[in-house]
Amino acid sequence: MPRDELLDPGAVPDLDHDPQVEEARLRPRSLEEFVGQRELKERLGIILEAARGRQQASDHLLFAGPPGLGKTTLAGIVANELGAHLQITSGPAIERAGDLASILTKLDSGDVLFIDEIHRLPRVVEEVLYPAMEDLQLDVLLGKGPAARSIRFDLEPFTLVGATTRTGLITGPLRDRFGFAFRLDYYDAEDLERIVTRAAGLFGIEIDAAGAAEIATRSRGTPRIANRLLRRVRDYAEVRGDGTIDHVTASDGLAKFGIDERGLDNVDRILLSNLCERFGGGPVGLSTMAISVGEPSETVEEVIEPFLIQQGLLLRTPRGRVATRAAWQHLGLAAPDDSATAPEVTTLFE
Ligand SMILES: Nc1ncnc2c1ncn2[C@@H]1O[C@H](COP(=O)(O)OP(=O)(O)OP(=O)(O)O)[C@@H](O)[C@H]1O
Ligand SMILES: [Mg+2]
Repeated sequence: MPRDELLDPGAVPDLDHDPQVEEARLRPRSLEEFVGQRELKERLGIILEAARGRQQASDHLLFAGPPGLGKTTLAGIVANELGAHLQITSGPAIERAGDLASILTKLDSGDVLFIDEIHRLPRVVEEVLYPAMEDLQLDVLLGKGPAARSIRFDLEPFTLVGATTRTGLITGPLRDRFGFAFRLDYYDAEDLERIVTRAAGLFGIEIDAAGAAEIATRSRGTPRIANRLLRRVRDYAEVRGDGTIDHVTASDGLAKFGIDERGLDNVDRILLSNLCERFGGGPVGLSTMAISVGEPSETVEEVIEPFLIQQGLLLRTPRGRVATRAAWQHLGLAAPDDSATAPEVTTLFE
């Protein structure tokens, strides 16, 4: 404990600057506060208002999209807007059918159950979930072999909210049991600027429009990254400047932390430069790419690559990953004559 606190037992640590506390404060609590994703907000608003009007649990809802776009935030908003309790769990945390049974039987009428990473639910668990979602029935098998018997429980009405970064991995039967599946897209610069400005307001940081815009354009379309970059620029502004953020502070601060003008960080640039310089631009398999940057394959595939693909810097081909002409140029390298150009990308993840 620092000396000052020993001298003054009433002194409390500055929790306001604790990253986790800050993160929690930033999460929008209502649809109104949730920035961007206009269509999604409108549709979700209708579904929730209708459920409220009928005083019923809402249909089960699925949110899909890359990390950091607001899936967990939306699960909280659904519960808030319904005035319901939120129970949180995740696919990998539920190993056996019995784990799910104990969660489901504890739900009160109208509760919202959020299952994060729902694509990682074991198959046997998923099968128990089907009748629960559809008919509020739970069949639990007791015992083994010929003596086994199944007991049936009636469940209270609940709303299941699922989140996934990988829609392609959700089985058809599970997907079909959701009343609505929402897909989150990367945010445009304008929405990200509003997110940065909002966060700065909550943190009490002084920032001008140009500073917020600079952070926004380097945030890879992702609110979580926008908030993180804002914190780094705040640090920089406090230590090297007078604490306020304008265009120059933002761009100098971000450069200091290795974020370039396109929003690429060190890992992105190492991945691309390995691909170009060590593997002649590809094609290279995913596992080789992953080893070359020292990250797990899933991280490369789900977190790093989607943005590079969206930026037209990387292609996924049946034979492996390929660097585009734009990637060579971005690294300041001469592109080989046969280097690929990226097609217009409309969808970022399956
Ligand atoms: N639309 C938004 N408006 C304002 N802030 C947002 C919005 N979406 C997300 N955020 C902020 O971004 C952070 C990350 O969002 P969230 O945790 O909901 O992402 P996620 O999609 O669940 O990510 P993951 O797939 O990694 O779990 C939140 O703390 C929240 O403050
Ligand atoms: Mg989440």
